[in-house]
Amino acid sequence: MTDAATLASLAAYSDAVDTAVQAAAAYYDDGSTPLGDDEYDALVRAIEAYELAHPTEVLTHSPTGKVAGGAADGDVPHSVPMLSLDNVFSAEEFTAWAAGLERRLGRPVDGWCVEPKLDGLAVAARYRAGRLVQVLTRGDGLAGEDITHSADAVLGLPATLTEPVDLELRGEVLLTHEQFELANETRTAHGAAPFAHPRSGAAGTLRAKDRPYRVELTLFAYDAVGLDGLCHSELLARIAELGAHTAAGTAAEPRRCATVEEVQQRIDEIAALRPVLPFGIDGVVVKADSAADQQQAGAGSRAPRWAVARKLPAQHKVTRLLEVEWNVGRTGIIAPRAVLEPVVIDGVTVTYATLHNPADITRRGLMTGDQVFVYRAGDVIPRVEAPLVEQRTGAEQPIAFPEVCPRCGGDIDTSEQRWRCVQGRGCQAVASIRYAAARDQLDIAGLGGTRAVQLVDSGLVADLADLFTLTRDQLLTLERMGETSADNLLAALETARHQPLHRVFCALGVRGTGRTMSRRIAAHFGSMAAIRAADQDTLAGVPGIGTEKARVIVAELTELAPLLDKLIAQNVGIAESEPTAVAASADDDTSPTGPLSGQAVVVTGSMTGALAELSRNEMNELIERAGGKASSSVSKRTTLLVAGEKAGSKRTKAEELGIRIITPDEFATMVAEQLDA
Ligand code: IVH
Repeated sequence: MTDAATLASLAAYSDAVDTAVQAAAAYYDDGSTPLGDDEYDALVRAIEAYELAHPTEVLTHSPTGKVAGGAADGDVPHSVPMLSLDNVFSAEEFTAWAAGLERRLGRPVDGWCVEPKLDGLAVAARYRAGRLVQVLTRGDGLAGEDITHSADAVLGLPATLTEPVDLELRGEVLLTHEQFELANETRTAHGAAPFAHPRSGAAGTLRAKDRPYRVELTLFAYDAVGLDGLCHSELLARIAELGAHTAAGTAAEPRRCATVEEVQQRIDEIAALRPVLPFGIDGVVVKADSAADQQQAGAGSRAPRWAVARKLPAQHKVTRLLEVEWNVGRTGIIAPRAVLEPVVIDGVTVTYATLHNPADITRRGLMTGDQVFVYRAGDVIPRVEAPLVEQRTGAEQPIAFPEVCPRCGGDIDTSEQRWRCVQGRGCQAVASIRYAAARDQLDIAGLGGTRAVQLVDSGLVADLADLFTLTRDQLLTLERMGETSADNLLAALETARHQPLHRVFCALGVRGTGRTMSRRIAAHFGSMAAIRAADQDTLAGVPGIGTEKARVIVAELTELAPLLDKLIAQNVGIAESEPTAVAASADDDTSPTGPLSGQAVVVTGSMTGALAELSRNEMNELIERAGGKASSSVSKRTTLLVAGEKAGSKRTKAEELGIRIITPDEFATMVAEQLDA
């Protein structure tokens, strides 16, 4: 949210001040908040606008112009005030801010430093002769709370520096995503409520004493008192040299930029990297790098004039959990889904969020009607993290778990974390047929949702194999099935019968085997009969299948044995021609043939030209036909990125890693032979 709402009256202004003060108090106390970050920022901007227009009506407890919104205080004075940062919310606002700074200096800024704005809590760590003696929170900026007792739990905050110096490190303490997950596992194992949000987890942990368990945090240092005369980027390097952890070495690491244009570019890069960073950021901080510029610009009472935070939209939002829906998946898994009061997170309206499984709901202690923290980043499925227990009104209701399968009314197998209808995939014959008929599997034209329901309801089809024994006369007994439609469907089924083995195998929807894995299994075994006969050890020999996955697949194949036998008897699926070559190309990077031999290829953005009609699955097949390995995410092992229109974070990451990037047209030329095949 970037536009400040208008406060129309003194009463509205006064209410807004009260709401903001309460929110700031909760935020700086235990990190909880009845308002999302975006709402808080928007409220403060509205308050500022009102105060500018009505200077005589400013309330003394207004949060504007105060560190921590005036909410926090402490009892240990800071050596030098711990300031906050001014915010800008767009590229235009940043340009205007930078121009203002250059006007103040009377010359261009001598280099910028651009770094992540870490979403945690500011701390000051005092060292005497290289030994850590005291750790303080920011408090009201002038004095903070002593939290030395929690120093042990903070990774990157060394008990001794590499040199016996006197100095005070300043930085942000947070829970990385991994630490957050681990902390919540530990807490729930101890019967404590999970943290709602990494920041509230960090706040609670820094203050906590005598907890029966340990929660590990991470420091990212970004400043030091007592290292004068260095420019900011040198200061960061010196801090790291002394043994403290900084953001150096992460994809969002601090960079020196010469011009405002370069700064804008780096801000965009860091923003695009946000979904793949292992820790939360809520913006990008831009600082004048040189000590001379900083000194000349100076600071106001709340923030320095030589640095600014370019805020990014919040990824966590607070909204209401309206109800929980229980959906039965293709394999009979009964999965809960949260229905939310719609909320915009990072530009996308979120109405549903995943709740994983029933145990997860219990662990998080959720109730319908709860205000909940919802998280969404990049392409991930939004998830409900935790309820705001302190916001409960008493009207919340326990979440009702199903007692019978919501689809077929049969019993539920609750022996595993993920509940499942005892009918398994039988419960979902229609869904299974639809899945099998879809474009990426058997691609059966004319077998959409309605036809699948009709075929199952009429008793003509109970499983995939039954499709291939359908007769014209049987089809003609169905409503709205004329002779032409029947003939077309029979022709489509005949084509489907001759699909390659990996597509037929994929159509079975075996748990743990998506399209890529199906290709590998088909390539490894060559025929459905060989797959049917595979045991756990042989399956574990397929690249990418470990022992555990092999166990699950064998159990699935046993369950599917009657269906497999029917498919084998009906000759459905064409044996893979060069099993071992494809298997090797899929994993060993030593494919003997093809223009992409040895390449690990990722495709992103929309394809154009000769590739425009290809689904991702077909692109992956093409890559593997050309001897390459297809993958969905960019990593150090990626050697080639095919970037189409609207390519986003994968492109940025590939650029970061120096990976070769080509257009769809260039790629089409490279694999022209396979494309024609
Ligand atoms: S510099 C005098 N750099 O954001 C310089 N602050 O909203 C003041 N923060 O109070 C801070 N990442 O708690 C700085 N790379 C970074 C930061 C950062 C996070 C926090 C810090 C600050 C708050 C302002």
